[in-house]
Amino acid sequence: MKKIQIAIDGPAGAGKSTVAKIVAEKLQFTYIDTGAMYRAVTYQAMQNNVALEDGAALTALATTMAITLQPSADGQLIFIDGKEVTQVVRTPEVTANVSQVAAHAGVREVMVELQQELARAGGVVMDGRDIATHVLPQAELKIYMSATVEERARRRFIDNEQRGIASTLEELQVAIAERDRQDSEREASPLIQAPDALFLDTTHLSIDEAADEILTLAHNKMV
Ligand code: C5P
Repeated sequence: MKKIQIAIDGPAGAGKSTVAKIVAEKLQFTYIDTGAMYRAVTYQAMQNNVALEDGAALTALATTMAITLQPSADGQLIFIDGKEVTQVVRTPEVTANVSQVAAHAGVREVMVELQQELARAGGVVMDGRDIATHVLPQAELKIYMSATVEERARRRFIDNEQRGIASTLEELQVAIAERDRQDSEREASPLIQAPDALFLDTTHLSIDEAADEILTLAHNKMV
């Protein structure tokens, strides 16, 4: 069986990370959540009072901080300079600021280099916004996952409830639509479907159904 690269892109709440994790586990591949890396830079910038519109300062920060990923039974753990930040990079405050940080071309260059290094050996499932278009344009399997904004907000709402974060469906829908807008309209590698990516609408699919679809496609590429 060939150790391929699987790129999964799409907007917030499409189910990418949950599905990517299952696919990676079933194939015994490494799962790489690139959104967590942009979140780590955002978190570090907020901790150090670096202005979120200062691309040069954010790029310098991204260059000097050591971001490491570690697989675990609960999914991917992320560390900044050896300190675990898996949970704190997912707060609503970081979420609200991450698209602004990720829009800086310099920050993206640093992250993309790191992501390409992590994927070099193959046997990876990587999810994000620009994986098929910029990070792994040679990936054997490219998926663009999406769902209606109403469904994505509903999923985030349930997710927040389970994590004890208070939110309303309406505010989540607005926040998700705004993040989609920023990610799709930015100049530096915006969120778009790669011409050779397969579109997977998860609005009416369960997590297992979406994972099964990708696993079937992956098996066909691996023989
Ligand atoms: O996937 P997640 O929602 O955690 O991503 C957080 C943010 O990181 C996205 O909204 C986007 O601004 C940025 N991102 C990106 N490119 C990636 C992954 C994430 O710009 N490959």
